[in-house]
Amino acid sequence: MIGRMGKFKALFLLSSLVLFLSGCGKDNLTALVPKGYGAEASMDLIILTTVVMSFVFLAVIIPLVIVLLRFREKKGQEDYIPKQVEGNQTLETIWTIIPIILVIIMAVPTVIKTFELADTSEASEHINVSVTGNQYWWHFDYEDEGVQTSQDLYIPAGERVYLNMIAADVTHSFWVPTITGKLDVNPENVNTLYIEAYEEGVYWGKCAEFCGPSHSLMDFKIIVVSPEEYEQWLADMGDVDPDEVPEDTVAAEGKELFEEKSCMGCHAIGSSPVQVGPNLTNFGNRTTIAGILDPTKENLVDWIKDPESIKPGNLMTGKYPELSDDEADKIAEYLLQQKDTDITPEDAGD
Ligand code: CUA
Repeated sequence: MIGRMGKFKALFLLSSLVLFLSGCGKDNLTALVPKGYGAEASMDLIILTTVVMSFVFLAVIIPLVIVLLRFREKKGQEDYIPKQVEGNQTLETIWTIIPIILVIIMAVPTVIKTFELADTSEASEHINVSVTGNQYWWHFDYEDEGVQTSQDLYIPAGERVYLNMIAADVTHSFWVPTITGKLDVNPENVNTLYIEAYEEGVYWGKCAEFCGPSHSLMDFKIIVVSPEEYEQWLADMGDVDPDEVPEDTVAAEGKELFEEKSCMGCHAIGSSPVQVGPNLTNFGNRTTIAGILDPTKENLVDWIKDPESIKPGNLMTGKYPELSDDEADKIAEYLLQQKDTDITPEDAGD
């Protein structure tokens, strides 16, 4: 038995937990303030189901409380048996039909939206991006435009974008709560989802299917810019020369090391069929390093020197010889100077 003190402690713990967890939300990582078509559709369904469920809750709780208070056993009436209604056909019919109606109210709009969001018949009239989920990063290929990137998906505000998604290894799930609902990304088949973001901004995405030790670190972003900025971004990204030697001497040495230490075996800069590891075009304008760290040189050096300590189970670990501090520093400098366009997350308001 929990005593009064125990109950007080439990209540205190519960309310602190509610207070603590309510601080977890971020404006760009919430399904409750939708800023995209799919997220808005989900939110409408959340509201509808919450209303229906609240009705059910009240329809059960109110009569229950009334019955408990009004029909308590009274003194002197211990043997009294109230009227028995078991098998009453009218009552049985009513409480069978009402739930069926409620389920229909929730199911019809849900099924309609599900089919609508899976409809790809107009895909050819819109932007198409091929998305590949990898342990623990995302590859984005604008095939029609010959542009490839990873981790930061640039799209124009107010336009529909079809994402054709497949996984390179195990099942992942693409989820950007503020813009769209989740969709599984499987190794066996291409799943298509269309998204439309209403406002410019940087929106956080998560992998929503357990895919290995760094599943929770498989973050990415959708960067929504204006249609003009998007066109500019595409043009700049399609015009990158991977062989360009940086003017800065440290970065130039970094480029040499990048080739020498076999980084190029997995990472491409510019458009390239290589996609063993993330394409590093425009790396200097990324919002994060490895999807989770602030884009500072220090963090990049730490990541290059010991990726395992940052993202356990990642496929970069052990693929290249150990780097000295100086070598890691130069490679980091080279990568951070990869700024291939003036369109940055700042243009999206980050
Ligand atoms: Cu990919 Cu979880």
